[in-house]
Amino acid sequence: LVLSGILFSSCSLLPSNGGRPGDGVVSSERNPLRIPELLEDRNPDPNMAEYALEAREGEQEFIPGKLTKTFGYNGDYLGPVLRMRRGEQVSIQVSNALTDDTTIHWHGLEVDGEQDGGPHQKIKPGDTWNPQFTVDQPAATLWFHPHLAGTTANQVYMGLAGLIYIEDEVSDGLNLPKEYGVNDLPVIVQDRNFKADGSFAYEVSMMGVVPGNHLLINGTENPYVEVNQGKVRLRLLNASNADNYTFTLSDNLDFQQIASDGGFLEKSVVRKAIELSPGERAEVVVDLSAVKEDKTYLLVEGYPGLEFRILQLGKDTTEVPSQLVVLPKADATLSTGERSFQLEGMGIQGTINGKVYDPDRMDETIPQGKTEIWTLTTTFGGMMQSGGHPFHVHGTQFRVLSRNGKEPPEEERGYKDTVFVGVGEEVRILIQFKHQGMYMYHCHILEHEDYGMMGQIMVTAP
Ligand code: C2O
Ligand code: CU
Ligand code: CU
Repeated sequence: LVLSGILFSSCSLLPSNGGRPGDGVVSSERNPLRIPELLEDRNPDPNMAEYALEAREGEQEFIPGKLTKTFGYNGDYLGPVLRMRRGEQVSIQVSNALTDDTTIHWHGLEVDGEQDGGPHQKIKPGDTWNPQFTVDQPAATLWFHPHLAGTTANQVYMGLAGLIYIEDEVSDGLNLPKEYGVNDLPVIVQDRNFKADGSFAYEVSMMGVVPGNHLLINGTENPYVEVNQGKVRLRLLNASNADNYTFTLSDNLDFQQIASDGGFLEKSVVRKAIELSPGERAEVVVDLSAVKEDKTYLLVEGYPGLEFRILQLGKDTTEVPSQLVVLPKADATLSTGERSFQLEGMGIQGTINGKVYDPDRMDETIPQGKTEIWTLTTTFGGMMQSGGHPFHVHGTQFRVLSRNGKEPPEEERGYKDTVFVGVGEEVRILIQFKHQGMYMYHCHILEHEDYGMMGQIMVTAP
């Protein structure tokens, strides 16, 4: 197992730099929220899409007057949004202009193991990888990031991550805000630490990565965004390495959650707070009509992370449809097999079923199309920030059957690819793989993943 790229910079229990996101902000001046570009599809055929991504080095001014060395896809930090339609045949040219190996994994996408971009689909510096697949899953907000065992955490910290939007006839037909960058906003949330010279301080201790005291949204520190006083849709992604985030709104506003990781919920759910562990997404609609001032905030861990500047006052009387989609029932009786995964974290390290990741070992095999119940438990949360583990499975979207013996909360009744298992909790999921090949399952705390809290499952011919 290669662990290069990770340095134990301190073994003290008190992080040198870390704190809560926002603690490190020195200037109260707000910067315009960066909106990632929508990547252009180079194929004029409406049934086909061709994209090009390049992982490269860059630099960006996060902190006024200081340049930070970064990585990005097609730019300095983060990457563009890839918008795909269900049914479309997609081909992506991914080139590696970094000086280290990388891979690119489509988190949440249901594709063959060979196209998944896990640790075995390595792209060497100067090389290009060309995954091809047909999109066949409902409208959703997915994402992509590197996935090389041992260096994922550092490469993501440096900036390699981006969003994928899947659209379909259902999303076309729903009365929801859908103007990209105007009332349908990507919100990629990460915490970072900086050294005095402006460079990233990616520091790992025995406990895990040192939590960042700066909050970045789409790579912007202290952002604001101008919106009209109607409804805005936010596509929230927790792209942090290790921390869970709780999102709330000021002015006593509510979120209407419309989607989880893998697409729309059956019914929108009104929520005061949304918690996302690393890797999870939530789509929400926020109605700004009730705001009396010309400003309101999205709070992250209580910190006013994103300022909404309201341009046009007025009421928005459109209603978010209460019934969004009809999902197949998560029916436990469809299961023809069970297995269990015990997640054990000890500081920065961890195991699944007592094993550390080995690329040469196949931990599980399952036939394509077989439905199973998986039981996820944790033993010891350790001292990692969140004290639990976001369990993620590649190549499929699953359903949560129960959490601690009870029916899951409404927001967990849709499609999920990442589910948080808190200390002492038991989560049961209903899972099936539609494609064949080898896939990873792992804890999405990226340091846990890099230090071996990952396993491999082979999906064989039915
Ligand atoms: Cu978000 Cu295995 O990945
Ligand atoms: Cu994934
Ligand atoms: Cu973990």
